[in-house]
Amino acid sequence: MKVLIIGSGGREHALCWAFAQSPLCSKLFCAPGNPGIESVATCLPIKVEATAEIVNACKTFGIDFVMIGPEVPLALGLADALRAEGLVCFGPSKAAAQLEASKGFMKDLCKKNGIPTAAYERFSDPEKAKAYVKTQGAPIVIKADGLAAGKGVTLAQTVEEACAAIDETMTGGAFGEAGAEIVVEEFMVGEEASFFALCDGKSALYFASAQDHKAVYDGDKGPNTGGMGAYSPAAIIDATMQERVMREIILPTVKGMEDNGTPFTGILFAGLMITATGPRLIEYNCRFGDPETQAMLPRLKSDLLAALYATAKGMLDAIELHWQDKAALCVVMAANGYPASYEKGSVIGSLDKAAKMQDSIVFHAGTARNDKGEITANGGRVLGVTGWAASITEAQKKAYATVDVIDWPQGFCRRDIGWRAVARDKSAVTV
Ligand code: AMP
Ligand code: GLY
Repeated sequence: MKVLIIGSGGREHALCWAFAQSPLCSKLFCAPGNPGIESVATCLPIKVEATAEIVNACKTFGIDFVMIGPEVPLALGLADALRAEGLVCFGPSKAAAQLEASKGFMKDLCKKNGIPTAAYERFSDPEKAKAYVKTQGAPIVIKADGLAAGKGVTLAQTVEEACAAIDETMTGGAFGEAGAEIVVEEFMVGEEASFFALCDGKSALYFASAQDHKAVYDGDKGPNTGGMGAYSPAAIIDATMQERVMREIILPTVKGMEDNGTPFTGILFAGLMITATGPRLIEYNCRFGDPETQAMLPRLKSDLLAALYATAKGMLDAIELHWQDKAALCVVMAANGYPASYEKGSVIGSLDKAAKMQDSIVFHAGTARNDKGEITANGGRVLGVTGWAASITEAQKKAYATVDVIDWPQGFCRRDIGWRAVARDKSAVTV
């Protein structure tokens, strides 16, 4: 099969790395890709939003299968455009991608299908939203309806803070169109986990679990980011919880989407809050997570390309997934200043040494190559360094050992990725 992956982040590097190992893959392309991806795929200089160019490239290169990485092309309808040309592609239609692109759509689907999630109301009038907040009290959560790169959510501790967030989101123009409508919802308390399931429109198959670290600094301090590190599996998603999430959340979603005339094909990524009364849905993403993917794929024994192709063909029944009995942990290295403004162009050294480290891999995200052929920083999140071992504690050591080899003074990372799981490992040893 000739395969094309759409995207240029750490997630897409991990996907390319896994696909390149498949005996089914005769030629791998990535658009637009990055310098790390170049080592396993041919990169095509096409932007992820350039739907018509992507369709043309598929014809030119005789592509058999397209895997769409990020949410933006999904929300623009890239999967529809590809399928209209008879191409096989992994990822939901524009209509089904609303599960991520519109929080209001997702919440209404939950209400209709009895899926546990935070109580909520939708608003397009800021005054009505503020009046509602006053009746509910704080803490309370304000969310822009549309895609806001993980930044459209305010966890307000007071009513005043909630009202200020409503103004900023709806009338301050902070999120443009994405903030024209908002969802105001109940604040849930518990431990968060990321839960992934493959869906072929009719049925679903559990994929894996992970935990992300959204805050920029150690101790979960500072503003939220796209994700500063992740590990897999998440201990809180044991076999009982996995079965319960499939039964109470994932399968009713697949059925609800089918009934709605918008069947979901691709990977459902549920952001869960594991509360005292059970799992509740925070949000859906309609794609693989970044950096969760960089922590999940090194654990997978089965052929990822075969699994995703079968999903895209509506043949989920034909696959079984097997995982290695080990843990993996990914540390994100970001440019100083991220998630606010940061500089581009600094040189990242010693990547050749890092590549030789045992039980770890460096995935590229926002990197570029300068005139001298050196790898430089070209984005906020720049590298994802994954380590693997028998336990999260050991995987964490492997990942940081590789991080410490990389010579990049203009970058930083959290030093405590996996803290919750490491604390669990320690208490398991003392018991
Ligand atoms: P989202 O973009 O919807 O994933 O929200 C970003 C982060 O805000 C989540 O990862 C949670 O940590 C937090 N969050 C979102 N909604 C809620 C909620 N209803 N209750 C508590 N925390 C929430
Ligand atoms: N790591 C969170 C996300 O991919 O949205």
